[in-house]
Amino acid sequence: MIRPVSILGPIAILIGLLSCQSEEEIKRQRYITEGILVYKNNCANCHQPKGEGLANLYPPIAHSDYLADKKGVICLIRYGQQGSILVNGKPYNRPMPPQPQLSDLEVAELATYIYNEWGNETKLTDVKSVKPILDACKK
Ligand code: HEC
Repeated sequence: MIRPVSILGPIAILIGLLSCQSEEEIKRQRYITEGILVYKNNCANCHQPKGEGLANLYPPIAHSDYLADKKGVICLIRYGQQGSILVNGKPYNRPMPPQPQLSDLEVAELATYIYNEWGNETKLTDVKSVKPILDACKK
């Protein structure tokens, strides 16, 4: 006979894991919703509402191969970017102004939105992981 206690333990752990995962999911959705707004207000002028970029002036963010360097992207969102870069094989060379008005949380929300929408990710980029990256590239 199986004693009730021996099943209850694993079940409790399972419930714990499931509820934890859905909290993470709720947070991811919240970051994305906020990220869309932050993007519209701070980025869409140049990179365009669907992230498609503008001619040879502003590079696309949607499906940009530049997204592979996630730490670099997090840093350039806050501190801007200068000098020539290649995005999907196309050269761009126009300074992107720094965005010091963005809080660490807003940078994390933007990263979550961008990587979920255009970078093949389905996960949260938490502000806790963004903060040390921003601190390390502080200018
Ligand atoms: C004034 C126009 C302008 C604004 C506003 C702007 N960018 Fe940029 N962004 C640029 C330019 C120009 C480059 C290319 C820089 C270079 O040539 O070195 C760039 C490069 C990038 C890149 C790397 C290349 C790519 O397209 O993948 C990312 C990612 C990016 N910007 C994200 C953002 C985000 C997110 C925001 C909003 C917080 C933002 N940018 C706001 C002009 C802008």
